[in-house]
Amino acid sequence: MIKILAFSGSGRRDSVNKKVVAVAAKGAEEAGAQVTIVNLEDFNMPIFTEDLEAEKGMCEGGQAFKKLLIESDGFLISCPEYNSSYSALFKNSIDWASRKVGDEKVLEAFKGKVAGIMAASPGALGGMRVLVTLRMLMENIGTMVLPTQQAISKAFEKFDEDGNVTDERTEKVLKNIGKELVTTLEKLKA
Ligand SMILES: Cc1cc2nc3c(=O)[nH]c(=O)nc-3n(C[C@H](O)[C@H](O)[C@H](O)COP(=O)(O)O)c2cc1C
Repeated sequence: MIKILAFSGSGRRDSVNKKVVAVAAKGAEEAGAQVTIVNLEDFNMPIFTEDLEAEKGMCEGGQAFKKLLIESDGFLISCPEYNSSYSALFKNSIDWASRKVGDEKVLEAFKGKVAGIMAASPGALGGMRVLVTLRMLMENIGTMVLPTQQAISKAFEKFDEDGNVTDERTEKVLKNIGKELVTTLEKLKA
């Protein structure tokens, strides 16, 4: 069975990117995958510095997050656009997970994996600029990124108070990212 790890780059409790990830994850589940959704803030990773790593080694949360990435075939990621780029929480988490410990292979968490990327913003562009930086980062560390991507504009208007998607088109395009990720991974595994 295809295993997917889904997460957003936002640590905000009521994050719209977390809601976006949940819809895409549903699409992947409907296509037959096993999806695990995690919140990056739950891993409590300190800001990465090489001094901290040299003194204390890999942080517990970073190793736990990396383990989940290693065990997955692919990722569903939705990242908020902060000043036209990804959030510090997202980049810090990727930086920790990129560090090799013991017998692990270089960039084992990312190489040969496939990702579907999304962004959501209350603004008119939906965070489409972060998708450029997100794609570049993930590709540079060995993860193939699906050509299809989605930026959800005016995102606060597209979910209800309970976090359910209320806009039919948004639901369709997000579920499709999840489905496309599963079908791509199935083809690669065949
Ligand atoms: C530091 C900061 C920078 C931001 N920069 C942008 C931006 O460049 N483009 C944009 O569309 N929204 C920007 N926003 C607004 C976010 O899109 C908005 O806070 C959004 O709700 C964050 O996603 P979340 O709901 O998943 O936490 C910024 C917000 C913060 C806190």
